[in-house]
Amino acid sequence: MKGIILAGGSGTRLYPMTKVMTKQLQPVYDKPMIYYPLSFLMLGGIKDILLITTPHDLPHFQELLGDGSQFGIKLNYKIQDKPNGLPQAFILGEEFIAGEDVCLILGDNLFYGDIRFFKSAIAAHKEKNDGISGRVFAYSVADPRAYGVVEFDKKTKMVKSIEEKPAEPKSNYAIPGLYIFDSTAAARAKSLTPSPRGETEIVDLILSYKKESKLGVEIITRGVAWLDTGTPRSLLEASSYIGAIEERQGLKVACLEEVAFRMGFIDTEGLQKCIAALPKSIYRAYLERFLKEILEE
Ligand code: G1P
Repeated sequence: MKGIILAGGSGTRLYPMTKVMTKQLQPVYDKPMIYYPLSFLMLGGIKDILLITTPHDLPHFQELLGDGSQFGIKLNYKIQDKPNGLPQAFILGEEFIAGEDVCLILGDNLFYGDIRFFKSAIAAHKEKNDGISGRVFAYSVADPRAYGVVEFDKKTKMVKSIEEKPAEPKSNYAIPGLYIFDSTAAARAKSLTPSPRGETEIVDLILSYKKESKLGVEIITRGVAWLDTGTPRSLLEASSYIGAIEERQGLKVACLEEVAFRMGFIDTEGLQKCIAALPKSIYRAYLERFLKEILEE
């Protein structure tokens, strides 16, 4: 399975923080936001990843993450000139997807906790014996009006309706910015017409799978945290949340080098190389401690 991270957009709700630095490079506690969705894809076993961003931000992401080889993954980059809607990610990524299944995660979506829901969705998608070729997730939120909202039958998981940012939501289930589609996503995205706000909408792409009875929805249970970073307050809350967990456990969330090692993408030598490239910092000290533990095992 291929992975796409969409890290475009203008982040106007975070202005002036986003005047010179895109939203997905802003800090969430102790590391840039992009580390979280990237590590999430890696934890799902996805190693071939396309990062889509603006012409202005591309060099920053490249400087930060390089070609991914230090983490044992392949990072590809593509420019989105104008934010024309989320489905455009599949059009820009069509060549990259190259007929395979694809998982799109939005660069400002953070998941924390037991991610078996993600691994099993990927496994089911690969097996392809349930006739489902488009998968979305549902997460209970107090106020779903800022999200795509899915209404479904809890027993049969049959989707009844999907609406983007409805004024009167039909359920409390928001659709997080995480989607698993088959390779027809690009062709489907091309056939969409822009909504009144001038962009194609992800809900229309999702609905195209529903029309063909190929849409599946998985509930993300309350034991998983799905955090939002769209406003100064939610960004602060996400930072506090990650900070509280990290300081309590003495373990880092979304430490790419650690994830790469734990997933078997790099070996001890690869980890040592990563550490050698880091300046003296809390982050480096954490990885040095991690390496020491591995070597002592
Ligand atoms: C986008 C999608 C929305 C989804 C949300 C998740 O909205 O359009 O359906 O629920 O991401 O983060 P945005 O927040 O980009 O406006």
